[in-house]
Amino acid sequence: MTEILYLNGDYVPPAEAKISVFDRGFMFGDGVYEVIPVYSGMLLRGRAHLARLQASLDELNIVNPLSIAQWMEIFTTLIAQHDALSDNVIYIQVTRGTMAQRDHGWSAELVPNVLVTCRTQTYAPQDMQTLGERAVTLADTRWSNARIKTTNLLPNTLLLQKARSMGANEAILIRDNYAIVGTQSNLFIVNDDIIITPPKSNHMLNGITREIVLDICQQNKIICREKDITEDELHEADEIWMCSSTREIVPMTTLNQHAVGKGKPGQMWLQMIQLYHEYKLKVMRAPAV
Ligand code: PDD
Repeated sequence: MTEILYLNGDYVPPAEAKISVFDRGFMFGDGVYEVIPVYSGMLLRGRAHLARLQASLDELNIVNPLSIAQWMEIFTTLIAQHDALSDNVIYIQVTRGTMAQRDHGWSAELVPNVLVTCRTQTYAPQDMQTLGERAVTLADTRWSNARIKTTNLLPNTLLLQKARSMGANEAILIRDNYAIVGTQSNLFIVNDDIIITPPKSNHMLNGITREIVLDICQQNKIICREKDITEDELHEADEIWMCSSTREIVPMTTLNQHAVGKGKPGQMWLQMIQLYHEYKLKVMRAPAV
């Protein structure tokens, strides 16, 4: 299988994909991105991801260079060329375009640069399900427009790296004594069998996986509240989960080296991950995205 990607209208192997060093994404992180999970060739909530891409582009005043049909055609081509049967991840990146020379300001005439890749999904090791993962709390140093899915991810990458240096897999970011989000995932806690997730805000990326979990709760009459979570509530939680398109729903079993609940994945998580897999199976059988 020869890997190909899409770059500005061409399907090429990665080694042949070339872009100018004056690309504003390269120089300023001036661009947006999306990550869409693909199961057995089917996009999981593809249209919701494209709607969020549109919202991110609108926020940065970048005109979406492609129609929904054109995006879909690119995904279909890449998935078919890659391996339609494996679980894949589509990565989309749209930058504002290539400048004539380095300049903080930009001209409205710039043409966006578009990159799309399709790669095999790599899952966390199987023992994650029995052991769970480790989280630490860190102060949220991100900017105040974290709702935008921009490629400018330096605070997130620095914070994740710091968490890893502390022996953890993810950092839960704390702002004004509230637990907001992970560096690359949304946060859920369980307390007395009630699931709680922070409400949408400028400081949180509204994850599509988070939306799926909320929908699953509604469909199955499981109580879930969108409500601020204080740092104290986080420390007292029976269960902590982090979720994203690439990691699905991960139980965190230690927080700052202390056991969360009984120190193993909780009953509510076991129920939720089963419902999530059932939801995925339904999507795989359905023709719509
Ligand atoms: N990140 N919050 C942040 C800061 C994220 O980076 C992500 C996902 C999420 C979860 O969003 P979703 O459920 O739509 O994937 C929340 C992706 C996977 C990434 O950066 O690779």
